[in-house]
Amino acid sequence: MANVCVITGGGSGMGLETARNIPKDVILVLTGRTVSKLEHAKEILEAEGHEVHLTACDVSVRRDVHELCLLAASLGTIRTVIHSAGLSPTMGDAEKIIMVNAVGTKNVNMEFYKYMNDGGVIVDIASSSAYDAPGILVKHQIFEEAEYQEADFVRHMVGEARMVPGEGKDAGFAYTLSKRFVVWYAAKCAHEYAKKGIRVVSVSPGLIETEMGTREAEAWDYTKKMIENTCERRMGTAEEMGFTIAMIADERNGYLSGVDILVDGGASTGKQFKDK
Ligand SMILES: NC(=O)c1ccc[n+]([C@@H]2O[C@H](COP(=O)([O-])OP(=O)(O)OC[C@H]3O[C@@H](n4cnc5c(N)ncnc54)[C@H](OP(=O)(O)O)[C@@H]3O)[C@@H](O)[C@H]2O)c1
Repeated sequence: MANVCVITGGGSGMGLETARNIPKDVILVLTGRTVSKLEHAKEILEAEGHEVHLTACDVSVRRDVHELCLLAASLGTIRTVIHSAGLSPTMGDAEKIIMVNAVGTKNVNMEFYKYMNDGGVIVDIASSSAYDAPGILVKHQIFEEAEYQEADFVRHMVGEARMVPGEGKDAGFAYTLSKRFVVWYAAKCAHEYAKKGIRVVSVSPGLIETEMGTREAEAWDYTKKMIENTCERRMGTAEEMGFTIAMIADERNGYLSGVDILVDGGASTGKQFKDK
């Protein structure tokens, strides 16, 4: 049976660039909400020699994710899941961001776990902004509600996001909290899923030049400082992230699980060395 790699958010940005780095004997299943984007990505990947299937799916809807699993399982052995789908702060209100980024990650991990076995890997894309959350507002008891008390989880996460003063700031903080959840949840899943031989890793990109990244860079002043703090004083590219993510997913990384990989070009350490 052929191996299958599922990529959520595979129609654009880092998801698409990761797909380009997956070995060509692996069947790709791309998903997202917009079929035209997926079709465009399919064309690019097929021209490069990949076998590609696509289906529309909203990761915040558990039933959609279940259908996605069924399609992928019908094509072969699901070995790799790259969960890149997400919304940034300017793309929705606090609730929408929590639903897609946090509930979506819970849906993807929980559903695919049922269909994956020894040697499988799930890579959840978080964000360097996960590291910006003030500890006092990060409540792991709220994170624990995600799997079995989804409505309470969403209400509590949105409530925390609204603690941040300033108009429109709640969506920004909902993003930070949602990605902090992704880092926490990927680590939790890694320890649980190890009993089936499945690795789970989260990846936290810094500011990356995709449509989403460029939009956020233009919207927020603090991003200028982030760029200045990187080693090369620039945003990362989707191509660079695609290579990094595919490399992390490679099965030869058998010992890489239960951690977050921060790929921010040195922006976080730059605070220490560049501000002198
Ligand atoms: N770019 C950055 O600077 C940056 C930094 C840190 C983290 N990230 C994270 O990296 C990931 C990839 O982002 P990107 O920069 O590559 O941006 P992107 O090109 O906008 O990719 C995001 C993808 O997610 C899909 N998506 C959004 N909501 C969805 C939903 N509810 N269900 C299924 N698919 C959905 C989008 O397609 P549809 O709209 O068609 O659904 C899109 O293809 C995201 O999780 C993002 O939060 C990005």
